[in-house]
Amino acid sequence: MTHQFNYKDALAASEKVTWRVEDIIGGERKLDFSKPFLPDSLARVSDMTFLDREEQITLNQIRGHGYLCMFGLVEEFILPFVLDHVQPTLHGDDHQVRAFLNFAAEEAKHIHLFNRFREEFQKGFGTPCDFVGPADEISKAVLAHHPLAVALVTLGIEWMTQKHFTESVRDNQTLDPQFKSMLKHHWMEELQHAQLDTLMVEAIAARCTPEEIDQAVEDYMKIGGMVDGALQQQTEFDLDAFERATGRTLTQTEQDVFRGVQHQAMRWTFLGSGMTHPQFVASVGKLGDGVKQTFANVAPNFC
Ligand SMILES: [Fe+2]
Ligand SMILES: [Fe+2]
Repeated sequence: MTHQFNYKDALAASEKVTWRVEDIIGGERKLDFSKPFLPDSLARVSDMTFLDREEQITLNQIRGHGYLCMFGLVEEFILPFVLDHVQPTLHGDDHQVRAFLNFAAEEAKHIHLFNRFREEFQKGFGTPCDFVGPADEISKAVLAHHPLAVALVTLGIEWMTQKHFTESVRDNQTLDPQFKSMLKHHWMEELQHAQLDTLMVEAIAARCTPEEIDQAVEDYMKIGGMVDGALQQQTEFDLDAFERATGRTLTQTEQDVFRGVQHQAMRWTFLGSGMTHPQFVASVGKLGDGVKQTFANVAPNFC
């Protein structure tokens, strides 16, 4: 798969998309807690047949809260990473500089957007939900890895937002309209980010020796392992939040199913859906056949 991405078009597209956080949440724009927030392909609550419909919606909303937190968290390392990437090019190509500065500004806006949704969630849901963190420590730990690894992680994240929206949100009429609107507006700006990430991965890879590329792939897997550990911890937080929110204590067998299904659902949501995106696979393929094979071997664990 080849691409036609370039800085000029990405900049033009980003300038056409203009929305404010205030247009999406706040005032009359409230979350509807009678509806699910995430499509079931991400939440996978329907696989948990020991929960009734109401309980499934509650768990779906807890996962929706986790989605807000996770994207809020990843934007915390994407923002400084993009600024570091653009810094040495400030006197270079005008389109490139402006495209990356818009990218950074949009990520700052998304952090604000996810924070606002979290506030609304906390007001309306009624039960406090924990999330892994703190975000700045996780962000620091991610940024300590090879820049090509961080760029690949970022690339996967941006493409996954595209897959989430086009494959399971856009035509879904059952979701809360406000949450759906948030996913849609995020998707609109993330398309340009994914294209810029593709160019960023190519630019960083062009400066790397074959040994550095191997190092970066190793680092990517380390970051993936770190995220997976966080998702396992998050599954415990979600189980706890679910029991507090519903007043129901799950049996040992039900808890085991909950852990298995929900951990794998989060692996798909935050790792597998990015790693299997055709554009991500194409970018990885350009790093070499061995690298492509490594990713192809690992991805099924997260699907
Ligand atoms: Fe974003
Ligand atoms: Fe982004």
